[in-house]
Amino acid sequence: MTQKITKIAVLTSGGDSPGMNAAIRAVVRTGIYYGLEVYGIMRGYAGLVEGDIFKMESKSVANIIQRGGTILKTARCKEFHTKEGRQKAYDNLRKIGIGGLIAIGGDGTFRGAQLFSSEFDIPCIGLPGTIDKDIDGTDFTIGFDTAVNTAVQAIDRLRDTADAHDRLFVIEVMGRDSGYIALHSGIATGAENILIPEKKSDINEIMASLQEKQRRKKLVNIIVVAEGGTYGAVELSKVITENIPEQEVRVCILGHIQRGGAPTCLDRLIASRMGYSAVECLLEGRYNVFVGILNNSMHYIPLEKAVKQKQTVSDEWLKIVKILAS
Ligand code: F6P
Repeated sequence: MTQKITKIAVLTSGGDSPGMNAAIRAVVRTGIYYGLEVYGIMRGYAGLVEGDIFKMESKSVANIIQRGGTILKTARCKEFHTKEGRQKAYDNLRKIGIGGLIAIGGDGTFRGAQLFSSEFDIPCIGLPGTIDKDIDGTDFTIGFDTAVNTAVQAIDRLRDTADAHDRLFVIEVMGRDSGYIALHSGIATGAENILIPEKKSDINEIMASLQEKQRRKKLVNIIVVAEGGTYGAVELSKVITENIPEQEVRVCILGHIQRGGAPTCLDRLIASRMGYSAVECLLEGRYNVFVGILNNSMHYIPLEKAVKQKQTVSDEWLKIVKILAS
């Protein structure tokens, strides 16, 4: 890409996450500040393939920084997985003269952007927008903090009722195959056990620990389970009831509640910083990277690397869980 970029476009793709609107706002306003035309693409790659693209103004993003969801809407698009679909997407960008694309989403969105930029002459910048926090190379993903805070509020409430009835609650949180929402919300609510996909769960160990708690009459227990782990909440509750019939067990699956709501201050801030940086990347010719924040500084990680590497959970986190949850 040698031509000067004068028009850029932004889309949100995959599962929505609180703070996506703040990121869109930052992209639009930074682009306009630098004299660029900024275009919004509706429903992620689906809108790109269909040509559902419109010009945005500063006022298009007024009054959205505090709103969850995404004003550009989002989708998971099968056609973009095909070469023909991506060709249509490219033609639609070329028709308008758009010279750079900013894609806000998770690892699937990054895979799409990486493939697209490798096949066509269109620089892509990724912004990590996912509640799952499953992208390596950034301390934050847009939406994770809000999702965790939502989970924490819910778990605190469940502990009140668990305590009143001497019950055990198995609470399932989202995260696909990442355990970060479970880990953070579980530690922050003093959960007695946290099960995450990154560590294989040993059912005998879980039962032994619960039986030991029974012996010392500790009947109020919170177990936080990540949805992608060895056991789902319903399955685990059945095993507990079979093994310890005297323990009352209830299940709560928090589900999509974790995806909605007003973004926290942290999510609004990181989204604003990342959106601003994405535009700067395009102007400075730093192409086909995603914008991350590491140790409070902006980092630019090649999309190619991002799609290969998953965030891992350090052993220290797991040790903390074990020590604190006795
Ligand atoms: O990636 C975000 C996420 O909310 C995951 O935590 C979850 O597994 C998935 O999306 C749910 O997807 P859908 O909204 O399509 O049911």
